[in-house]
Amino acid sequence: MRLSEGSPGTRILAFGGYQPAKVVTNDDLAQMVDTSDEWIRSRVGIESRRIAGPDESLADIASAAGGKALAASGLSPDAIDLVVVATCTPESPIPNIAATVATRLGIAAPGAYDLNAACAGFCYAMATASDAVRAGTARHVLVIGAEKLSQWIDWTDRSTCIIFADGAGAAVVGPVAEPDDPPGIGPVVWGSDGNLADKIYIADRNSFIVQEGQAVFRWATTALHPIARKACEAAGVDPADLAAFIPHQANLRIIEAIARKLGAPQAKVATDIVTAGNTSSASIPLALSRMAEQNELGSGDLVLLLAFGAGISYAAQVITIP
Ligand code: UT7
Repeated sequence: MRLSEGSPGTRILAFGGYQPAKVVTNDDLAQMVDTSDEWIRSRVGIESRRIAGPDESLADIASAAGGKALAASGLSPDAIDLVVVATCTPESPIPNIAATVATRLGIAAPGAYDLNAACAGFCYAMATASDAVRAGTARHVLVIGAEKLSQWIDWTDRSTCIIFADGAGAAVVGPVAEPDDPPGIGPVVWGSDGNLADKIYIADRNSFIVQEGQAVFRWATTALHPIARKACEAAGVDPADLAAFIPHQANLRIIEAIARKLGAPQAKVATDIVTAGNTSSASIPLALSRMAEQNELGSGDLVLLLAFGAGISYAAQVITIP
């Protein structure tokens, strides 16, 4: 018996994001439920969101983002030996989305699995991908956060239909270029609390997403900044050296409250929620891709990711922009 040989450090090679074409504004929603543009902007910070078309499946959305990240990495599909799709909104429990996405992208016979840590899914998937590369069980991993929340929303429930949306974001994870290079993915700090499982849930296959908004809001604005700081500490990074902070895009007021408590006033704070809504496990990689595309982030920048959601599950890590 012997062990596989891994890489001492890992890094992100490239990102990619995808949003469906259909834009749904707050005024559109005000035609459907008793709400207003003013209420949504002031309480949640969303101006518009994207919703998948009727023939657009979760695998379509995930493949679009995964394909962009793969192309941007410059790797051939053969170089990917593991595909992980973080999602909590598949159309059905089997087959998994990851194997379908891999085949569509021409990735032959990789390891492939879906991971459900709800809105924390992308940071969990990044951590497991990085660990696989370090352990030598994979060399390059395609990590995707993809959600089609629209199919699990009650469109007559104003407390949820104004928040959630569809989209996907992806990253290619691989070994550092040279063994002595500094790592580009820091240690994950993750956790959960099953006592709060009833705060966000979908009861069964005939039900829709339900959340106790205020309870989650209170928890998120009080429990998460220490986790964010712990992830910096674990990576040996001073919050003062962060170029950006990308928390899960759940609510602009939550984002701003955590950012204030983090104590990194120089860090740009992702506010993708304004035009993307809450896309659960897709929100962080979508925000990352957009910030990189718009040159708000540059190569070598240190960025803190912080994800949280149903479970309750949470995870944070520092990464370096490729
Ligand atoms: O991604 C997973 C993690 N999830 C979260 O992080 C969610 C965290 N929570 C939140 O973001 C917020 O709690 C919500 C956005 C969900 C709700 O905002 P809120 O400021 O906590 O509002 P609320 O639930 O306390 O409701 C206040 C009032 C209520 O009316 P009354 O009882 O005061 O008359 C609601 O019925 O606002 C009413 N309301 C609405 N009014 C207009 C609830 N939804 C709407 C709406 N439009 N869409």
